[in-house]
Amino acid sequence: MSFDLILFGGTGDLVWRKIMPALFQAFRHGSLPAGGRIVGVARDDLSDDQYRALIKSRFDHVELAKRPSEEEFSRFAALLSFLRMDLSNPADYARLAAKLQQRPAEVVVMYVATAPNLFTTVCEQIAAAGLNGPQTRVVLEKPLGHDLASNRAINKTVRSVLTEQQIFRIDHYLGKPSVQNLFAMRFGNALFEPLWRREHIANIQITIAEELGVEKRGAFYDNTGALRDMVQNHALQLLCAIGMEPPINSHADAIRDEKLKVLRSLKAWTPASLSQHVVRGQYAGGAIDGEAVPAYRDEKGVNPDSRTETFVALRTEIANWRWAGVPFYIRTGKRLADRDAHIEVNFRPAPHAIFKAPLTSPNVGNRLVINLQPKDGLELHLLAQGADQRHPRSTPTLAPVQLDLDFDKRFGSERVGAYERLLLDVIDGRLNLFVRSDEQEEAWRWVEPILETWNNEPTGPRPYAAGTWGPSASSAMIARDNYCWSEES
Ligand code: BG6
Repeated sequence: MSFDLILFGGTGDLVWRKIMPALFQAFRHGSLPAGGRIVGVARDDLSDDQYRALIKSRFDHVELAKRPSEEEFSRFAALLSFLRMDLSNPADYARLAAKLQQRPAEVVVMYVATAPNLFTTVCEQIAAAGLNGPQTRVVLEKPLGHDLASNRAINKTVRSVLTEQQIFRIDHYLGKPSVQNLFAMRFGNALFEPLWRREHIANIQITIAEELGVEKRGAFYDNTGALRDMVQNHALQLLCAIGMEPPINSHADAIRDEKLKVLRSLKAWTPASLSQHVVRGQYAGGAIDGEAVPAYRDEKGVNPDSRTETFVALRTEIANWRWAGVPFYIRTGKRLADRDAHIEVNFRPAPHAIFKAPLTSPNVGNRLVINLQPKDGLELHLLAQGADQRHPRSTPTLAPVQLDLDFDKRFGSERVGAYERLLLDVIDGRLNLFVRSDEQEEAWRWVEPILETWNNEPTGPRPYAAGTWGPSASSAMIARDNYCWSEES
């Protein structure tokens, strides 16, 4: 199948960090359809060869195993070309159209990896140049908007020139093998389903912790913050995957309908829950792996008086029959103690204790941990007979034991990465792992009261030392329910 992939923002950070390495891996794995062209588009004045050389230099920064040989890169580079464009100039879209018409492709993917304020311009200009035919698919990166109103405005414009089937809104967490495994675990096995409800589950914790700070994206991040950057999209998508009803089949809309229902069922915020169940933090200086790192406010591009949050912890509920009353905790932040994304499902304790000296921490046994990264796997924590079994007269007590399934060991750590999978899905026209406009709007609707509250609060985020698990108010929030975060158990 012939395809054209047009990368708007072709010299930008995302193309550099994620898209080109993913395209190269797809090329290396032989999964990019033959007969494709990849056109980088940007304002820079570059020839095709200069663009190829720029992309080649990218691979000096990737791990050795993912680096192309000279010969491999020259075959990959044959797919690449460059077009200088001013994205607000209609004449430049006519030039793009002329380039594409030289050799019409069966699929044309327009990947809008630009600053979000250009999304609508690009989509409108694509349509004005007649480039929105049925073979066209448009990929939009997050953040799609800054709040509900701007998200709606983008969706409205985009949908006035394209059908929903042509719009691929990326949330790269959905492309991660570990998130695929979460769906497989829940809907490929009948084992968990009878337990997957309020009668058996005490609480669920979703953690996405990063050791990294804001890197070179200080200016962008300072205008965004953790709630918009991670919670509105990645964390809520994980919450949907954990909380949704089994879809009737694996078609895109069957899955997206169920996720939408979860988002619509999230408990509405009240002034009391907004003050008790949401914690925001901002990292101060500290140390990561023994190395001193600066405070957020000292990062390049960040306002020295910034009130932007780099950490969020919150508690919510899914108000439906399956989940009523079960707390779902979400926690995410930068410069935390570890790079660790996982979901912890804490089952209810045994209803009647017959063993002496029961364990005190509720998080010790009876729990399933779904590891997303850096490990990808499942841990089932159980309680076993813990007395010293060499001494038959010792008192029976309980001790924690663990069944550990490591998917990297089982399936190899060289599995298809998130961007590679998602790019191939766009080319093949599979929408399952992309976010529909109504899902996205619902997620914005839910985070908006938090943003409003923060805007009106005289105080800013609570400071936490880099290299810790965030402000102590996060532990205090969960402790009010008599639970604790996984690393505290
Ligand atoms: C991105 C955020 O969407 O996800 C970044 O903009 C964040 O701030 C990144 O670092 C985390 O992704 P991953 O795949 O490294 O967990």
